[in-house]
Amino acid sequence: MKILVTGGAGFIGSHIVDAYINLGYDVTIVDNLSTGSQKNLNSKARFIKMDINDSIIEELICDEKFDIINHHAAQIDVRISVENPFFDAQTNILASLRIYESAKKSNVKKIIFASSGGTVYGEQIYFPADENHPLLPCSPYGISKLANEKYLFYYKTIHNLDYVALRYSNVYGPRQNPYGEAGVVAIFTKKFLIGEQPIINGDGFNTRDYVYISDVVRANVLALKENVNGSFNIGTGKEHDVNYIFQKLKEITGSNLPKIHGPAKPGEQRRNSLSYEKFYLATGWKPEIDFDEGLKKTVEFFKNNPDF
Ligand SMILES: NC(=O)c1ccc[n+]([C@@H]2O[C@H](COP(=O)([O-])OP(=O)(O)OC[C@H]3O[C@@H](n4cnc5c(N)ncnc54)[C@H](O)[C@@H]3O)[C@@H](O)[C@H]2O)c1
Repeated sequence: MKILVTGGAGFIGSHIVDAYINLGYDVTIVDNLSTGSQKNLNSKARFIKMDINDSIIEELICDEKFDIINHHAAQIDVRISVENPFFDAQTNILASLRIYESAKKSNVKKIIFASSGGTVYGEQIYFPADENHPLLPCSPYGISKLANEKYLFYYKTIHNLDYVALRYSNVYGPRQNPYGEAGVVAIFTKKFLIGEQPIINGDGFNTRDYVYISDVVRANVLALKENVNGSFNIGTGKEHDVNYIFQKLKEITGSNLPKIHGPAKPGEQRRNSLSYEKFYLATGWKPEIDFDEGLKKTVEFFKNNPDF
């Protein structure tokens, strides 16, 4: 099976590439290395340094006749999307649309898309959110993720191009960028390990549903199955707040840094958690790594890879 993974040099995409390679698939990666890293590239995959905004991607997709496109390349920063919604839409909507249109022309069988269960529902009305929860994204990033799902529904309905949109909650684990704006687990882990003070934005009672990378990778393997189609939440149904994460990581790293709060970030969602029942019924998927165990594994990775 020939698979194109966009964003395959990034945190989530690179782990998916590793799993697909281990399963014996023929994998091509397209990535512009804007937030991804050469270090993450699997040497058994073909790597093409390319921006998905470049129309040349059309030729690649039409020439290579991929069976599957796993689309993870994106502008991933909610705050950038708020500051510059045009920039966000350029990559997250228009470039994606070109990929889907090329997929249609070249008889790709299925698109797997990295959507965001943390943003497409907006401020949740009930917890955990299932896929029937109202879709009220409050950021251009969330709107662009939802727009992709709507386009994919159109391509499935009108052109019979299969798709799976995986609405991830907050993914964490090895290789997550510890220098970004988001990804509190990676940011705090790195800071504790190098003895730099982590700052909790606001009161620290904001909650998120944290799902470990290996569980997300398994979802991307199950999504390859022919009979799995549509939009699915990928989360744990559980919530943890930032104060908890601070305390746990402090314990695991053996740090003695104090708990310090800074100003709250305006517009931050208060709570998020996702029900995974729909994907469980479709594939048997369940999250396997519990949060404390995932935190330990993440600390272990950053300890053993200090140049990360
Ligand atoms: N990390 C999370 O918690 C989370 C949650 C929901 C959805 N997602 C989605 O999952 C996907 C992967 O996110 P991640 O956390 O691994 O981030 P990441 O930044 O590590 O990965 C994104 C990859 O895409 C590449 N990229 C960005 N713009 C590109 C462009 N124009 N052309 C080619 N390549 C480009 C980057 O270089 C990077 O390798 C994204 O679509 C993101 O929106 C992530």
